[in-house]
Amino acid sequence: MPSYVFLETFGCQMNDSDSKRLLSFLKNINYIRTDSPEKADLIILNTCTIREKAEHKVYSALGKFKPLKYGSQHIIIAVAGCVAQQAGEALLKKVPYLDLVIGTHNIHLIEQLLKRVSEKKERISATGFFSEMNEAEYTVASHAEGARALVSIMRGCDNFCSYCVVPFTRGREASRNPDDILFEITALAKKGVIEVTLVGQNVNSFGRGTPNSFAGLLKSVLGIDGIERVRFVTSHPKDISRELIALFAGEGKLCAHIHLPVQSGSDAVLKRMKRGYTRQEYLDKIGLLRDARPDIAITTDIITGFPGETDADFDDTMRLIEEVRFDNNFSFMYSPRPGTVAASLEAQLPLEVKSQRLDVVQQRQREITEEINLSLVGRHTQVLIEGPGKLQSFEYTGKTSCGRVLKIILPFDMTGKLVDVEIIEAYRNSLRGELSQRTSVCC
Ligand code: 5AD
Ligand code: SF4
Repeated sequence: MPSYVFLETFGCQMNDSDSKRLLSFLKNINYIRTDSPEKADLIILNTCTIREKAEHKVYSALGKFKPLKYGSQHIIIAVAGCVAQQAGEALLKKVPYLDLVIGTHNIHLIEQLLKRVSEKKERISATGFFSEMNEAEYTVASHAEGARALVSIMRGCDNFCSYCVVPFTRGREASRNPDDILFEITALAKKGVIEVTLVGQNVNSFGRGTPNSFAGLLKSVLGIDGIERVRFVTSHPKDISRELIALFAGEGKLCAHIHLPVQSGSDAVLKRMKRGYTRQEYLDKIGLLRDARPDIAITTDIITGFPGETDADFDDTMRLIEEVRFDNNFSFMYSPRPGTVAASLEAQLPLEVKSQRLDVVQQRQREITEEINLSLVGRHTQVLIEGPGKLQSFEYTGKTSCGRVLKIILPFDMTGKLVDVEIIEAYRNSLRGELSQRTSVCC
């Protein structure tokens, strides 16, 4: 008899990828995913602690499961991800109905941990860090979801940006062996995957300290038979190499999108954030990327109200937004995280200032995104169909090479296929297209 697992994922691409790995380890021991917590034998929250709000969401989600635990003794409740890693034992003390805390390096141990919980009735916190990269942590090719797959190529981060908790929750940076990654992607391609997204906190430093490089890995992935599209997240501006930029110029299969978090447009703030680049260096990289691939979509992350950010610093950020005209930005109010350098800086700004600046950034970005989307009407592009839309029958959604959502009416289900389309309408967050005979891969 199968067991059922309810899994909720918060946060970034690393958590998405970890959730997929968790599900494939669980599939091996006969678990089936369910959308209903009431039906589940195992409930897992894969958590995020990057901002205070993200952490609060986890605690309120956990609260909802308390009656289920007390109503049925056999249910196992587990917390994975960054909150698990940071809070460890303390989380077990704080939440008496919690059975298992699984740290970010312990996902592959899920089977034996569950056994101890169910057979020995232990309550366990497993949050050890493993410094060596261990291939057993990865599950080869079992996590393909139709035509697309996420592939973790590294873990951790050594950058210690002064505001960021990730180096503490995900440990030191370590890269997988390129041969193992290529083996995994080849197996995924044989199962029908045509688009892979290589994920890591900081993919551009892949292989640092070894003869391997991210550009080298990417080139090999682009050469795998059956792989039609390659994406990657997240890039650190200081580590973007000329070799990587050259790949954007020469490799059509490399999707025309880069997520390049700038965080601030002020040199003084960037320095206090310990980002390792100046505003001008960032702009120079954008220039090189656009020279290499004129239609490249550039998205970014921005933090408003970092400690000591003045009106003039904030103006620098707004000027940068005008100069670059990002296709989109993911912006957040600065949130002090325990243990980080920035949390103990004096000159923490009031909530109203952080929030008012956030509104200004988001409002302007919405306008720019809409303007860029409108300028795409009439263009021909290629879309990977991801599945049925929600609003109309025969409507499907997919993504362009630049990562824009496109809706389209199709004569039959083309999920998992790359189709040529003409963009006929544009909205703030999406495009509408129709099938076209013309082949093109521009955005
Ligand atoms: N406060 C606000 N935003 C943060 N980020 C990371 N740490 C913090 C923090 N303490 C944002 C950065 C990063 C994104 C994933 O989250 O912009 O790029
Ligand atoms: Fe955090 Fe900076 Fe590492 Fe990104 S590069 S995960 S912001 S420490």
